[in-house]
Amino acid sequence: MKTWKPALLALILGTALTAPAHAAPPAGGWIFDSSPDMPGFRRVVVGHDASGWHGTVTSAWYGDLPMQSVRTDGDSVVFQLFNGNKNVPMSDIVLKPEGDPKGGYVRMTGRLWDSTFDITAHKGTPEALKALDFPADPLPPHRVLAPRNLAPTPPMGWSSWNRFADAIDDRSVRQIADALVASGLRDAGYVYVNIDDGWQGKRDATGRLQPNAKFPDMKALADYVHARGLKLGIYTSPGPKSCAGYEGSYGHIRQDAQTYADWGIDYLKYDLCSGEAFYHTAETVYATYQAMGEALVATKRDIVLSLCEYGRFDVGAWGRDVGGNLWRTTGDIEDNYASMARIGFDKNGTPNHTGPNGWNDPDMLEVGNGGMTHDEYQTHLALWAMLSAPLILGNDVRSMTPETLDLLKNPEVIAIDQDKAGVQGLPAKKDGSVEIWTKHLADGSTAVGIFNRGEAAANPAITWADLGLKPAKIRDLWNRSDVAVDNGHAFVVPKHGVVLLRLIP
Ligand code: GAL
Repeated sequence: MKTWKPALLALILGTALTAPAHAAPPAGGWIFDSSPDMPGFRRVVVGHDASGWHGTVTSAWYGDLPMQSVRTDGDSVVFQLFNGNKNVPMSDIVLKPEGDPKGGYVRMTGRLWDSTFDITAHKGTPEALKALDFPADPLPPHRVLAPRNLAPTPPMGWSSWNRFADAIDDRSVRQIADALVASGLRDAGYVYVNIDDGWQGKRDATGRLQPNAKFPDMKALADYVHARGLKLGIYTSPGPKSCAGYEGSYGHIRQDAQTYADWGIDYLKYDLCSGEAFYHTAETVYATYQAMGEALVATKRDIVLSLCEYGRFDVGAWGRDVGGNLWRTTGDIEDNYASMARIGFDKNGTPNHTGPNGWNDPDMLEVGNGGMTHDEYQTHLALWAMLSAPLILGNDVRSMTPETLDLLKNPEVIAIDQDKAGVQGLPAKKDGSVEIWTKHLADGSTAVGIFNRGEAAANPAITWADLGLKPAKIRDLWNRSDVAVDNGHAFVVPKHGVVLLRLIP
């Protein structure tokens, strides 16, 4: 009510439209004069009817963002924006009339994600406003894709993101490929060389996406990688922008899939990113991942599809149906024990969804990046192996310590991860800070991980009968030696460490 008093008064006095430009909130369509790149504000349209004030702000990242919790405060409209993610940090956003009351312009201030803005917009003509309409990218009708048997065991390889973020280029990728070969990691199974976010350039006149200047020739890079017995992976988003702000596949899904196939790409990570503004229901997220799955099938090239939508909407239950071969179960891992443990122990997806050709993916490895102790990195690798998780290295394999290389190459640990049965291990027993995990393997043996999540060394006494096991032989997978078989054992497990065994009946 308070808001309207001056305008009402002016009307009563017969002086409406002369004074109130500064007294009433700014209705109409406005075009921004500038914007931070993220989220690339273009236009704001705001008005009111009997139900109150409402509007949308159009942005390059998110398309039309509806105003939420709208209220007026004096001559300002105050609101929040909804980009599909209720956890996005955001201040109240204030839209306020400014300047010459006749022409007029508006000022919008606030904060969204990391962007703090104080920007102006001028009144747009209907044509100019229309020209800023965000194009719709129609979604396909619901379909279930035929199984894509491209990952009988969890994919193994390397990705640029954890160590390099978007500071990655053609030269480094070639060196990484060489290092995977020279170090023996390729022969240990790590065959995918995945370029994550940061390779994308602009689209040409036909809409075909070009790599940026750091990747002069993707086809040549793929040839280089293939010549070394490795496979090349790439990254995009269903949204207009990738998470790091590069060009996404919105409106170009088919075309981009074909471009990757033409280059010789073997693996695609499809990361929701700005697409979360467009696809924030179970149905629309399914549909946009289905669209890429179908686009990859249409290329007739075998391209592994890695779904990255942070585990939303129980992705494991439908990841295979959209053509996915692995799907992230969580947000991003960080190179510290707390983050790794949170993801690996506590958020490991639903076991019955994982298995040949479709894997729960608790994110890429941090082993060798320096933020954890050797014992903690052993836990990291052991957990991922117990989970049947993809093993995608995240370190600089050109300069590893011998200790890191030994850890990553351990064939008996890799065998647990790559076991043909593809079972997801689970905790069988918890005893204070000690968790005993078991995973049943294709040959009838059982992997046992004795994890100590506590802050001091632990001394658990394990009875095999307690775990329902009767081993005839026991392998210690770190020491790569046999352990005496009796009906149990007392183990010393270091703080944050793990004893990893294979019990053979
Ligand atoms: C995140 C994703 C990361 C990495 C990053 C690139 O959304 O979870 O693994 O790909 O985007 O910007």
